[in-house]
This record gives sequence, structure tokens and C-alpha cells, in this order.
Amino acid sequence: MIDAEENRLLTESGPGTPGGAVLRSYWQPAALAEELADERPIVPVRLLGENLVLFRDELGELGLLDHRCPHRGADLAAGRLEDGGVRCTFHGWLFNRDGACLQTPAEPTGSELHTRVHQTSYPVVERNGIIWAWMGEGKAPALPGIDAMIAPPEQVFAFKGLWDCNWLQAHEVGIDPSHASFLHRFLDDEEEQYGLQFRAALGETGLASTKLLREIANPEISVEPTDYGFRLVSLRNFRDEFTHVRVTNCLFPNAITIPMSGEMTITQWHVPIDDERCYWYSMFVSYGEPVDAAKMRAQRIDAIELPLYEPITGRGNNWGFDPADQRNTYTGMGPDINVHDQWAVESQGKIHDRTREHLTPSDVGIRTQRRMFMAALEDPGEATLVGAADPGALTGPAAIDAVDIDGDHDKCWRDLETTRRQAAGWAPALTD
Ligand code: FES
Ligand SMILES: [Fe+2]
Repeated sequence: MIDAEENRLLTESGPGTPGGAVLRSYWQPAALAEELADERPIVPVRLLGENLVLFRDELGELGLLDHRCPHRGADLAAGRLEDGGVRCTFHGWLFNRDGACLQTPAEPTGSELHTRVHQTSYPVVERNGIIWAWMGEGKAPALPGIDAMIAPPEQVFAFKGLWDCNWLQAHEVGIDPSHASFLHRFLDDEEEQYGLQFRAALGETGLASTKLLREIANPEISVEPTDYGFRLVSLRNFRDEFTHVRVTNCLFPNAITIPMSGEMTITQWHVPIDDERCYWYSMFVSYGEPVDAAKMRAQRIDAIELPLYEPITGRGNNWGFDPADQRNTYTGMGPDINVHDQWAVESQGKIHDRTREHLTPSDVGIRTQRRMFMAALEDPGEATLVGAADPGALTGPAAIDAVDIDGDHDKCWRDLETTRRQAAGWAPALTD
């Protein structure tokens, strides 16, 4: 049972909060690279409760600064990109990407004032379509060595969306393998198309995933600790003919890796904008053919509004709920599973009140996440900050759907994953 104080500790993310310090011990996605693709590459970013300005300077280097000009507080997001940095348009103070103040041109000639002024800045790097920020203490470590980061760029498509709720409930839907049997239930087994995952036939069985999910609502779920967080293995035995094995992961503290299809996985971060809103950032990684990024973007862009990547369907229009449609689509919210997940987590409230929950054995992933996060809050050292000490050494993780007919579930998914990795050419062998 969680009390109100624990719920606060688990969900706070702002500067100076214990939870914010845990999240700041990991690289976090700050923007999609496409957001800086304009001829004026400078955008406001709200991240972990901080208002920042992200830009690419004239040399093509990235910078992430506190948005508030240290002179008299005007917003640097409206600044000019010139002379080696961003210039405040109120009185012309100029800051480079490291936060150094280079000029205060409205001051008397010869003024040394600029040498005493420094703006908060955070290291940023671009990798596979996302701009990553390091907002933690000390020197930034290497980016995680996971597949989404090391895959060749043509194998990865990145996108994001805004969810109108706290980051933790967004994350918790991703470590909850049993919800797919209900929230993503389809009442027919039509062919797979965008938004209708879980439709591919299972291995050689010819059985649609949709049918399996409908028939077996209570998977046997186990949790295995790993270097990056934990692995969830969910078993669904179908009429004693075979066992469906689904391998998903928590990349502690706020990301997941799950299978999308035989050759594609999704690694998704849930990063606070502030405590009441978050972004999901997804990296779709193909172990087979290069991704068709233009097609994947086109499938998603119509469902959101720029520049915030805010879904058109949401709290404001009751997530498109149509009681008549519920006869056909189970949820009554259309066929797109992204909308289903969005409803599930946003409808819990902006910050879910966990004091009123009844956690069960099927919530084992959620309990594991909270236990790990509470341990990290109490003792934010190397032992509890899983995956933070040497992120560059992390690999994988494996995320796959397999069909086991021999009774050795572990060997079954590992063999399939190993074959896929070897065929990809760039993906390292499994290490745990
Ligand atoms: S407020 Fe920015 S230069 Fe004066
Ligand atoms: Fe889901």
C-alpha cells in the first residue's frame, strides 16, 4: 500500500526534489531532432519542470540553456542566433552554448560585467532522431549502449507525443503485460494495419495474436533483474498446444523496450514536462529492413498538433469515446492502441492517487518499479541507481514474441532473439 507521501516521492520530478534527482541521473530526451530542422533552429523546451531553450548555434553545435535571461528575465527562446550563441533581444546580452556570457553591449564600453555572468546550461547530444539532455550532477556519462542508440540511423524512427498526466502512470502502462487482453482487445482478427498491433499470426501456429489475447487474459508474469532494470516474461499457454512467450523490459527508471513485430521493437521514454504532463519518446528499431521513416511519420502526424505534439484525441473530447462504437471496438475509442493507452493513463487523473489502489499479483512489474525507485530515493548510490554507473556498457535489451512448443520458454525466446541479432549485423549478442 502506498501512502500519500510515498506517492508524492514517486511522482515529483522538479529541480531539488528526490525523484527529480533520480531522473536527472540518466540521459533524458529533450526534443526530436526534427524540431530543430527549421531555418531558425531554436525552440522552448520544458523538461523536468525547468523552462529551457534548445538551439543549434552557427557552428551547428547544440546548446540547452535556462530560458530566462540573467539580466532582467526576458525569454531567450525569442532570441537571435548570431555571433556564436543566442542573443537576448531585450538588451542584447549574448550567451554561448556553454552558458558563458560573451557580450553585454548596452553597458559602458570596456565593461567586464559579462565575465561575471553565467547562464545555466546542460550538455546535449543528438542520436538517432532525438536530442538528449544531461541534467544530472557532474560530468555527463556515455549515452546508454542499448540497441536504440547504437543502431544505424536508417534502422531507427523516432517520434513523440504529449500525455496529459504524470510520467509514472505513463511508464506503468508499459510494464503491465496483462492489460493488452482488455485494453487492446479486438473483437475480430483482421489483418494488421497502423494502430492495430497484436494482429500478426503467432509464429507458425497461424493463430492471430488477437485471439490469443482474448482467450488468455491472465498471463503468468515473471520479473528478472537485469543491468538496465528488469525483464518481464509473460507466458500465455494456449490449450496446451503451445506457450506464447512475450519478453518486455523496464529500462530503469523511465523507459521500456517492447516488441512491435517480428523485426521491430519500440523503446519508449516517459519524461516529465512537469509533474502533470509528460512526453513519450519512442524509438522504433528495425532488426531487418531499414525503417520507412517518411511513412511512419505520416501515419502519426495527423493524430497530433504541432508544435507540442499534442494528440487531437484526449481529455478535452473524452478520448473520442462513442458508446455505439463500443460494440465493435471493445473500448469504444476506435482501433488505435495508442489512444487506448493514452485514455488508460490520462483517465487516472493528472497525478494518479495510488493510495486508493489494490495492487495484485499481475501488477508485479509495477511493484518492482516502485520498489526500485523508492530504494533509489533513499540511497541514490551506484547500487540503487540501476544502469546509471556505466550506461555505455548496457546492451540489448531483448524484446520479442516467441512461440514455445518444447516447454523450454527461456531457450525458445533466446534462440529467436539470437537469430534476429545475428541477421541484423549491427546488434550485439545478448549478455544477460
Ligand atoms: S533581459 Fe536579456 S538582455 Fe536584458
Ligand atoms: Fe498498452
